[in-house]
Amino acid sequence: MNVGIDKIGFFTPNYYVDMVDLANARNENPNKYLIGIGQTEQAVIPNTQDTVTMAANAALQVIDDSNRDKISLIILGTETGIDNSKSGAIYLQNLLGLSRHARAFEIKQACYGATAGIQMAKEFVNLHPNQQALVVGADVARYGVRTAGEVTQGGGAVAMTIAADSTILKLSKNSSVYSDDIMDFWRPLNRTEALVDGHYSNDIYQQFFVKTIHDYLQTNDMNLTDLSALVFHLPYTKMGLKGLREILPELSETDQKHFLSEFEASRVYNKRVGNLYTGSLYLSLLSLLDNSDDLHAGDQIGIFSYGSGAQGEFYTGTLQPGFKNSQRKKQINEILNQRTRLTVPEYETMFAQWPKLDAGDYHLDDLKDHSQFTFTGVNESKRQYQTKA
Ligand code: HMG
Repeated sequence: MNVGIDKIGFFTPNYYVDMVDLANARNENPNKYLIGIGQTEQAVIPNTQDTVTMAANAALQVIDDSNRDKISLIILGTETGIDNSKSGAIYLQNLLGLSRHARAFEIKQACYGATAGIQMAKEFVNLHPNQQALVVGADVARYGVRTAGEVTQGGGAVAMTIAADSTILKLSKNSSVYSDDIMDFWRPLNRTEALVDGHYSNDIYQQFFVKTIHDYLQTNDMNLTDLSALVFHLPYTKMGLKGLREILPELSETDQKHFLSEFEASRVYNKRVGNLYTGSLYLSLLSLLDNSDDLHAGDQIGIFSYGSGAQGEFYTGTLQPGFKNSQRKKQINEILNQRTRLTVPEYETMFAQWPKLDAGDYHLDDLKDHSQFTFTGVNESKRQYQTKA
């Protein structure tokens, strides 16, 4: 059996702010944002999208008549969920018309949630090879206007189906994990913006990467050169480069160049979206699949997942013959290229329109949001979702 990722899709809303515009507005040298942080554009999330609608819009690309009835596990990884009790996965099941004979739930551990979902889905499909799982990572990354974290905001969703005969990436049996009680990034229940100890979070990320990759290679009797590329959780794309640089000295000059070139392919999409928390690692995987010219079926990819707080996991996957898909690449580029560029004041206005936690009932006009699924407000404390014809 080749249990792994069978389909992968991505959604981000229709707006972005340009990082040069933001740098100029914040009196920063644009190269700090473009090179020092490694971001060129940042997704701005309108109030008519949330983690449920973004997850459903991404999942449209991976659910069709060939697999709809086979999905019996629905996992939403998110740290910006829409209810303290009911999971977004139940809404997702309903919006997508998935089978009621399914387990549907949400997982939270900062940016690690989607990875936890994938590992659980892998075990599930191993036991039930005729069934499939839908795993979605969806988040809205908010730190606040004029904070140090502002340049690392973003949002969107990555949806994946996990199947027995995967066409994209067979998942390794083993992985190496490391967790510890760390206050590097958190979001108390009364806040819509995260709190962060930014430089400390960078250090912990790097430490967890080095620990888990070395443990994985040692335990599985592998060398770094057995891997054809590495993909990282990318809260901002320079962070992955910092991780990669930790292990580059262990490689020859030729291999260093190769890993750096694959890294560039893995950050093409993320540079234009920013952090989407749980989905970021899998957007980077998608970026690698679509933008590398050097990978072949059978190649092994190293995958590093990090969720603040903190949980790290390193595992690998083997590329399957169907990993390239020109139609999928075209669709992702259309999503990114067709977005509207906001001025900084327009972005600030949209940012401020994000619903307050104590907003009560309200109605939102979704006429300008052409996504298939939209959020239209709260009625009698119940969230209202709309499916466009
Ligand atoms: P900062 O203090 O504004 O930036 O915070 P800085 O002064 O550290 O500069 C950033 C980089 O730009 C530096 O490079 C500078 O040298 C460079 P580095 O030393 O890092 O390699 N720089 C320039 N480069 C070229 N030309 C120039 C120039 N000027 C400066 N002219 C920070 C940056 C990322 C800390 C901040 O934005 C932040 O706090 N962000 C949020 C936290 C974060 O993303 N942490 C990442 C690790 S934790 C994680 O991944 C988990 C997370 O996704 C949450 C979850 O799990 O749910 C966040």
